[in-house]
Amino acid sequence: MWHIQVIHGPNLNLLGQREPDVYGRVTLSEIDERLRVYATTEGFELRTFQSNHEGAIVDAVHQAMGWADGLVINAGAYTHYSYAIRDAIASAGLPTVEVHLSNIHAREPFRHTSVIAPACVGQIAGFGWQSYHLGLEALIGWLETHVPPTPTPQATAESS
Ligand code: DQA
Repeated sequence: MWHIQVIHGPNLNLLGQREPDVYGRVTLSEIDERLRVYATTEGFELRTFQSNHEGAIVDAVHQAMGWADGLVINAGAYTHYSYAIRDAIASAGLPTVEVHLSNIHAREPFRHTSVIAPACVGQIAGFGWQSYHLGLEALIGWLETHVPPTPTPQATAESS
């Protein structure tokens, strides 16, 4: 069973009321619930975390090293300038998919740069809350093709 940590960055706690024309009307708790349903259907363990604080996000990446096989992260505005989060992802060494609700490449120029992208296996942007769903699907596909399955335990004693 895969274990996946989803991390939501700053201001995403306000989804639903925050600039709905850009980010949609689905709230963060509704997104997390939809992802939980997906995890149950697909049979992977999911944990979700949100913080408005850079250091707390760095800590969450570090803590994921203890149990997660991969990360899905929407670092919000930190995407564009947080070398600390970029380094945390690189240091953790966990396959990470970067997601954004909006298409950051079609918005203001400062959003076109992602400093975390080089530390991630890929990026999904522009599909509203479904970017998270697509990110999880992409991560699981990546894990299935890059990480060898845990070997089935064998009987230790030779049968005679
Ligand atoms: C965002 C895009 C960022 O530029 C912005 O600062 C956010 C949300 C997105 O999901 O589209 O907070 O990451």
